[in-house]
Amino acid sequence: MSGTGARTADSKIFFREFLRSPLVTASAIPSSRQLAEQMIAPIPEHGDPVVVELGPGTGAFTRAIQRRLAGRGRHIAIELNPRLAGVLAERFPEVEVLIGDACTIPELLAERGLSADVVISGLPWAAYQGPLIPAIAEAMAPTGTFTQFTYVWTRWAAPSRRQLAGLRGAFEEVVLSRTIWQNVPPALVYVSRRPRTA
Ligand SMILES: C[S@@+](CC[C@H](N)C(=O)[O-])C[C@H]1O[C@@H](n2cnc3c(N)ncnc32)[C@H](O)[C@@H]1O
Repeated sequence: MSGTGARTADSKIFFREFLRSPLVTASAIPSSRQLAEQMIAPIPEHGDPVVVELGPGTGAFTRAIQRRLAGRGRHIAIELNPRLAGVLAERFPEVEVLIGDACTIPELLAERGLSADVVISGLPWAAYQGPLIPAIAEAMAPTGTFTQFTYVWTRWAAPSRRQLAGLRGAFEEVVLSRTIWQNVPPALVYVSRRPRTA
C-alpha cells in the first residue's frame, strides 16, 4: 500500500474506533508525520535503547520509532484497545505489542527485566486520571526521557494544566517544543527528562 493509501486506511480505522469509544481514543484522526518526528526526537541515534510507546493507536508514532531504531534496541507498545493492538501487531511484527493499561508499565517492564530509556505517549487526558505519571517515572532509567503531546488550543484547560504540573513534579526537567502547526489540530510536545524517583 502507498503512503497515502496507508494513511487513508489508518484514518478510517481510527475514526471507527473514535466513534466506538471517543474518550479513550480521544482523537478522530491519527497524528501527523511532523508531530511524530518531534515526539521521537529523544531516541538516541546509537546503542540499543529500550523504547516504550503508550497508546500507539494505528501506529503514527510507531512507524517513526521503527525507522529511527532501524533494528536496534527494543520497542514495546502498550495499547488498551485490542482491535487497534491487533492492527499494530500485524503491521509491525518487530514491535512487542502488549494489550493493556499504560499505568501497568512498571510491572510490564519489571517482568522483562527492563527499564525504559525513552517513553513516547499518545495517551489522552482520560488516561491521566489515576497515578499514571509516577508509574511512567518509576519504569524509566535515571537518564530517561518521556514525551507527551498536547493540543495547543486546549493547553490551558484544567486537565492539561494538571498534567503539566504532574510532569514537573515527577521529572527534573520539562521543556515545551515548538508548535507543530501542520498537525490537525496544532500540537506541541512536553519533553520530560530525568525521573525524580530514579
Ligand atoms: C489520541 S490516540 C493516539 C494514537 C496515536 N499515538 C496517534 O498519535 O495517532 C490515543 C490512543 O491511546 C489509547 N489508550 C487510551 N487510554 C489508554 C490506556 N490507559 N492505556 C493504553 N492505551 C490507551 C487509545 O486506544 C488510542 O489508541
